[in-house]
Amino acid sequence: MNGIDKLKNYPHKHLLGIEGLLPNSLNFLLDLSQKYVKFLEKNSKKLDYLKNKTCINLFFENSTRTRTSFELAGKKLGADMLNISVGTSSIKKGETLIDTAMTLNAMQPDLIVVRHNDAGAVKLLSEKVNCGVINAGDGPHEHPTQALLDALTILSRKKTIAGLKVAICGDIMHSRVARSNIHLLNTLGAEVRVIGPATLIPKEIDSLGVKVFYNMKDGLKDIDIIIMLRLQLERMSGSFVPSIREYFRFYGLDREKLNYAKPDALILHPGPMNRGVEIDTELADDLDRSAIFDQVRMGVAVRMACLKALVKK
Ligand code: NCD
Repeated sequence: MNGIDKLKNYPHKHLLGIEGLLPNSLNFLLDLSQKYVKFLEKNSKKLDYLKNKTCINLFFENSTRTRTSFELAGKKLGADMLNISVGTSSIKKGETLIDTAMTLNAMQPDLIVVRHNDAGAVKLLSEKVNCGVINAGDGPHEHPTQALLDALTILSRKKTIAGLKVAICGDIMHSRVARSNIHLLNTLGAEVRVIGPATLIPKEIDSLGVKVFYNMKDGLKDIDIIIMLRLQLERMSGSFVPSIREYFRFYGLDREKLNYAKPDALILHPGPMNRGVEIDTELADDLDRSAIFDQVRMGVAVRMACLKALVKK
């Protein structure tokens, strides 16, 4: 399978991760997303593909971009969107994940979008409900819609993914964005490198088919796309970097380090950004070099495509 044959449908019930998806499935979702990018550029009106359908956003972890863009995407398609946040639900009262899943299932939603702080929790929940489930990030494991929106952003600027050299930089160890991106970019034929301090690069990374670099100068040579990651302090137990100042000096992206990459290299960051920690603040706002706000725009289109593909007619 090489992705040239077009699929008419996304062939899976859930979207739990990028790992294991074939090029055809990825291209199907990306093609549909591109249609929605065009739609959103021209229209402020809503579609009615998901009229009378109910989608639940179930977020056990904080989120700004992901939760809002799923909500907006569902509304653009005419769905009823319900937000359940942990602070106000019975989860705070000690209800288990399985009980929560069974309760929501009894309300017969058409799709559930879940973010959870444990790797594997979203898959577990998907096994207990009748409808499709989208993983909006499970611990350090996967964040498939982020990888799709990153791919869509790259496609919009570079027209292709195959053959590009992409560097993912920073806290690889704790990043679900890194994992999903590595799977997607490898599947669609890019060359993927990871760059970071040894303490933030997991030992088993070689098995994912990436080249590992411990300094930005060597790692960014000839690079087309730079994906910067946040230091995920909430997932760290103990100290992984000597100090924020040291970290920025060696791994923070500034003009000097950007010059190691190709002259037209594009910068991505999934947000939320820590300005002055992983990226220089002036560079983050340079719209010629940084596609960070494009990513947010692409996020709505990608989530529209995923909702449309997974909600049953
Ligand atoms: C990412 C996440 O939650 O994994 N953010 C996002 O979805 N926009 C990355 C991060 O939190 O650093």
